[in-house]
Amino acid sequence: MPKSTEYEAKIADAQGFIAYDAEEDGVWHDLITRQLPAVRQHMARQYLHGLHLLDMPTDRVPQCPDISARLGDLTGWRVEPVPALIGFGRFFGMLADRTFPAASFIRKRKHFDYIEEPDIFHEIFGHTPLLTDPAFARFSQAIGEAGTRCDKADYSWLIRLYWFSIEFGLIRENGALKALGSGLASSVTELPWSISAGPEHRPFDVIDILRTPYRIDIHQPVYFVIDDLDDLFAAARRDLLADVAEARRLGLHAPKYPPKQAA
Ligand SMILES: [Fe+2]
Repeated sequence: MPKSTEYEAKIADAQGFIAYDAEEDGVWHDLITRQLPAVRQHMARQYLHGLHLLDMPTDRVPQCPDISARLGDLTGWRVEPVPALIGFGRFFGMLADRTFPAASFIRKRKHFDYIEEPDIFHEIFGHTPLLTDPAFARFSQAIGEAGTRCDKADYSWLIRLYWFSIEFGLIRENGALKALGSGLASSVTELPWSISAGPEHRPFDVIDILRTPYRIDIHQPVYFVIDDLDDLFAAARRDLLADVAEARRLGLHAPKYPPKQAA
């Protein structure tokens, strides 16, 4: 997550609805219209099924209460608007409570292709379809539960599991690589890159993931691939705090990305 942002949270009314203007609705329309063909081609079938179930609008920014009503019936999850940047403590606590924290602003056109901080296109279009899947939903909650029990010093370790699965995970589908993660569903350039021959593809392994450093501002040089979404049920049953301790003992892998240039 970036440390600062030029965007301000949109404030919801008492029912949780947010007033977006015509320009903001237009940005949503243009983003989703551009992204849908690539998503249909490269995203996992579970994501596409979730997208179908949620039936989100293309002509305006969706509203969290509408998405929550559909999610609630399926997996008990809901989506709640939050400020653009929230701390890890609150973030993990909300996941443990089956509440997805959604940044409520939508990007400006100058950030149409790429924005470092998550906006509502990333949150709703990227994240919520897979929260209709019981295994994915349970795994997301398990990461939150581990986060509420772990030391603050362990946040940066635990968040790698979130990063390489919920944000940037891949899955094998009939022998072909498909994308699962929200950061891929909402990125016009990283989605095809992730399943190309360019990056390294490693098997989903919790300890290996916890030991893998990442940068948020580049296309990932390595992705982790699960064989079956139900494998996430097994991951959710693990003692993730013991896994973090083991990963700490083994140490971080050397980064596969170049060091960030000083600003
Ligand atoms: Fe995200």
